[in-house]
Amino acid sequence: MLKNLQKIIDESKSVVFFGGAGISTESGIPDFRSVDGLYNQKYDVPPEKILSHTYFMEETEKFYDFYRDKMIALWAKPNPAHLKLAELEKCGKIRAVITQNIDGLHQQAGSKIVYELHGSVHRNYCMKCGRFFDAQFILNSTGVPKCQCGGTIKPDVVLYEEPLDDKTFTSAERAIMTADTLIVSGTSLTVYPAAGMIRYFQGDNLVLINRDETPADKYANLVIHGKAGEVLGALRAD
Ligand code: APR
Repeated sequence: MLKNLQKIIDESKSVVFFGGAGISTESGIPDFRSVDGLYNQKYDVPPEKILSHTYFMEETEKFYDFYRDKMIALWAKPNPAHLKLAELEKCGKIRAVITQNIDGLHQQAGSKIVYELHGSVHRNYCMKCGRFFDAQFILNSTGVPKCQCGGTIKPDVVLYEEPLDDKTFTSAERAIMTADTLIVSGTSLTVYPAAGMIRYFQGDNLVLINRDETPADKYANLVIHGKAGEVLGALRAD
């Protein structure tokens, strides 16, 4: 399996990576839909409801209680999956990393071209004056974080009911359309429009590296059911 993956990568000119929460579980950040995932933990209000635009607007303080506790993980470090993807970009193999994750670990590992479809905890803006605040500011704040101008600060994270950033989506779409190999990993491919992006792929090799089965397995040339950190970490990047 790994030999096939190495061969595909060695023979590819333009590899694009499309990942999800499963890429960061080996950094200690739970994913959403696995048995130990965030959405299977018991809360009075379902996390998918808390992480929605309506809830942010109507229950901002409760949103931030959950968000500070569960969505910001500045202690997490890049794992071998993030690190190898950055190496593969450096040696000219990987053109872009497209991620649904908001933890910034790909950039921390050294990846330069990263399309964050669902935004990032590292970017927070005042809804009134647009001033920027980093993740530490949010962690240090209590209740609803406010700007000096009095405006409420909102994370630059795509909540349910919110659209994806147009420019990011279009850049990611173009990267997928022009790739000859697309590696999809660490995602259940259940949340649209992100999950639907892989249909733009027209290249030779669709590779799935995921612990569990995904709806795209049947279209893939190569399916590896395993841990992304171990599989990607074992690749040669030269
Ligand atoms: N290696 C490989 N695959 C893994 C690993 C791992 N170490 N850990 C988990 N997985 C797989 C799981 O088998 C699962 O299929 O990663 C997938 C994670 O799926 P989800 O928890 O649904 O995460 P994701 O697909 O990123 O969710 C998409 O849902 O709630 C929204 O905005 C949120 O971006 C998120 C989106």
